[in-house]
Amino acid sequence: MEVPVSKRSHWGSRIGFILAAAGSAVGLGNIWKFPYVTGENGGGIFVLIYLACVLLVGLPVMIAEILIGRSTQNSPVGAFKTLAGDRSPWVGIGWLGVFTSFVLLSYYSVVAGWSLHYTWLSISGQLAGLGPEKVAPVFGQLYGSAGTNLLWHLVFMGLTVAVVYGGVAKGVERWSRILMPALLIMMLVLLGKSLTLDGFGKAFHFLFGFHQDKFTAAGALEALGHSFFSLSLGMGAMITYGSYLRRQDNVVGASVTISALDTCIALGASLMLFPIIFSYGMEPAAGPGLVFISVPIALSQMPGTTFLATIFFALLVFAALTSAISMLEVATSYLIDRRGWQRRWAVVTAGLTIAAVGLPSALSGGTRLFGAGMEELVGKNWFDSLDYLVSNWMLPLGGLGIALFTAWRMDRRLRQEEFLSGSRLRSFYQGWVFLLKFPVPVAILLVFLHAVGLI
Ligand code: PFF
Repeated sequence: MEVPVSKRSHWGSRIGFILAAAGSAVGLGNIWKFPYVTGENGGGIFVLIYLACVLLVGLPVMIAEILIGRSTQNSPVGAFKTLAGDRSPWVGIGWLGVFTSFVLLSYYSVVAGWSLHYTWLSISGQLAGLGPEKVAPVFGQLYGSAGTNLLWHLVFMGLTVAVVYGGVAKGVERWSRILMPALLIMMLVLLGKSLTLDGFGKAFHFLFGFHQDKFTAAGALEALGHSFFSLSLGMGAMITYGSYLRRQDNVVGASVTISALDTCIALGASLMLFPIIFSYGMEPAAGPGLVFISVPIALSQMPGTTFLATIFFALLVFAALTSAISMLEVATSYLIDRRGWQRRWAVVTAGLTIAAVGLPSALSGGTRLFGAGMEELVGKNWFDSLDYLVSNWMLPLGGLGIALFTAWRMDRRLRQEEFLSGSRLRSFYQGWVFLLKFPVPVAILLVFLHAVGLI
């Protein structure tokens, strides 16, 4: 059942849409993942390649996604049905997006749950009291505790459901308007603190110095894959958010703003974390434990631990929440648009299903079945397997489909009209189509060839 366009929910304001879409983009990918992959890949040149990927691959795909959503006023499955026909194989891109939203949120919520756990430890003053030797094993204890993981996973899913339950303007937009400015302020406070630390100069050099010797092809492909994850592309999240825009809204300008905000926040997060890491003798290449092990150890030695750690982990929770909202909205909007469900049933059903799918991820560290046992069998535990599949395969595959569809299959007149409607950046139209036709698909194919070990 199609929802008539006139009945469709819309954003209350342009800034509301930008904050919601930037909220989707800015997430654990910026504050947890970007700093540690940058650290693992030696800084400088990785950052430069990442910027190029955002500009030349991510931005064109984001414009395509938002534009498909705005033009069809429909969530991913319905959008491709409208543009390509009910039985077209292109509809598979929409299905893949809905499926990905279930898988991604199921484990994303577990990491968000860790952030909630650390926020609780910080607020209750426990990190300050512990001292570095006792902070170091906290993450291991948390990871190994099935019950604690489960509890925070369910709390986080509950928060996400509560926001999306409110609807587009009164739930997603309203909360993005509160959480995003709060996130920016918290980040500025921490950045201000990092500026005063001895390690700031070293961190700056690490991030922006040109260390040619650190360049590897694998690093470049990782930068590309991460730009998809960070900009929330390939899953239809931006199609869904775009579908709540009105025809006259400026898609190109909004995409540039969202990508710029996302990139500035990833760089800001690194500029805030690396001085802390360097000042307290930690290693930048600590991997996924950077934010949950190295940073708490460093924070526990700084004056004002409780205040700083609370702000940092709350920031992580806020970032994760605005992203999780967009994932749940993809699943919810499918049930509303295609199945004709009422929002409240759609949100609760999707939320409960995702919470259930997330159980094995929450239990990855605490049980043999989904943890060590599975690792012996397939080389990765449940949680890592899902992250690998989503980041390296499902999101890039969705992005590839969206780029190919927009460049080669979409009606040319409609595409041009849609691009130009509401946009002042007319001269970029040809360049955008060119990028989607050749460079973007080739770049994504390289990521796949690398993932299967062919390059
Ligand atoms: N962009 C989010 C982050 O950086 O954490 C993750 C994400 C959200 C990916 C929504 C994909 C998506 F559709």
